[in-house]
Amino acid sequence: MKPAREPEHLRTLLRRNAIERRVRQLGRQITADFRGQRLHLIGVLKGASIFLSDLIREIRLEVSLDFIAVASYGQSSRSSGQVRLTKDLDNSIEGLHTILVEDILDTGLTIAYLQRVLLQRKPRSLRVATLLSKAATRVKQVRPDYVGFEIPNEFVVGYGLDYAERYRNLRDICVLQLPAGR
Ligand code: IMP
Ligand code: MG
Repeated sequence: MKPAREPEHLRTLLRRNAIERRVRQLGRQITADFRGQRLHLIGVLKGASIFLSDLIREIRLEVSLDFIAVASYGQSSRSSGQVRLTKDLDNSIEGLHTILVEDILDTGLTIAYLQRVLLQRKPRSLRVATLLSKAATRVKQVRPDYVGFEIPNEFVVGYGLDYAERYRNLRDICVLQLPAGR
């Protein structure tokens, strides 16, 4: 007989209202910082898609968007330390003010890799916006320009963030407590 799947416990860390308020503030700040300019947002698939779709509607500028995708985590909750591009941008970013939009900054490997790749394409400027930042686990020095929330070093899901492709649809951001051994 197949053993029953052990339960995965969710504990709310950031409620939808707090996320909404913070995303609105970030949108205002970005609007003020780029006043009078055109802006291009680059979302990192798939985790940042929900954050990006809320953020872009809080930016009162002429703004365009594109997506890029990388593989690093696979089906595990730990970083493999390897990053590779799995989907490139559709359009050139040369001469554009760009912001790379991420869901979470953990070791920094993903953003450091993407900054390197994107800077080679000569944007006018490249900033980084991340909804969440785990300050404790950095291995690469990455200084994001916009941070939604600093969070403790725990595995979180919801509002775009997944565990093995699940939980992206949660409105709140929750800590996922996995059964021992995973
Ligand atoms: P980094 O390369 O270690 O900075 O990790 C960045 C990527 O790892 C993010 O884009 C997420 O896809 C994933 N990640 C890191 N921490 C978490 C987490 O707590 N929950 C879900 N995904 C995470
Ligand atoms: Mg991601």
